[in-house]
Amino acid sequence: MRISLGSDHGGFQLKEELVLRLERAGMDVMDRGCSGGETVDYPDVASSVCSDLPGAADLGILVCGTGIGMCNTASRFDHIIAALCTNEYMARMAREHNAANVLCLGGRVIGPELAWAIVRTFITSEPLSDDRYIRRRKKVRMTGPSDADALKGGGN
Ligand code: RB5
Repeated sequence: MRISLGSDHGGFQLKEELVLRLERAGMDVMDRGCSGGETVDYPDVASSVCSDLPGAADLGILVCGTGIGMCNTASRFDHIIAALCTNEYMARMAREHNAANVLCLGGRVIGPELAWAIVRTFITSEPLSDDRYIRRRKKVRMTGPSDADALKGGGN
């Protein structure tokens, strides 16, 4: 699996740890910085990682202090479903229900062991293709109120 990964200064230490562990696990890792813990703007790194998908990378991982800024930025791209996860259950649901392709983590929120457990769960889970999940994902991608009306309804 090819994984594009990046952080700002707030997520640097955790990102470095995850790069090591992913490489040890045999993953093809693209490290998009930052490279020395220098102060950087998280949207710049988020854009680099999001640009790697879906061509150069299968999944993305973004780490900032809280994970919030990275998640906000990645979510602005049409081809990205970003998920900020703080436990393994969220990571599995993010893939299975939401079909997330970018995982966001808070380097000042969770430690390396929990982060690694979240990452492993995220990359080993797959999007489910039940009708209801597909319908809801389409609604997430709506672009305005008329789309929302057209897609209303459902069940399950
Ligand atoms: C940087 O200090 C911090 O704002 C950033 O890492 C992140 O938490 C933003 O959401």
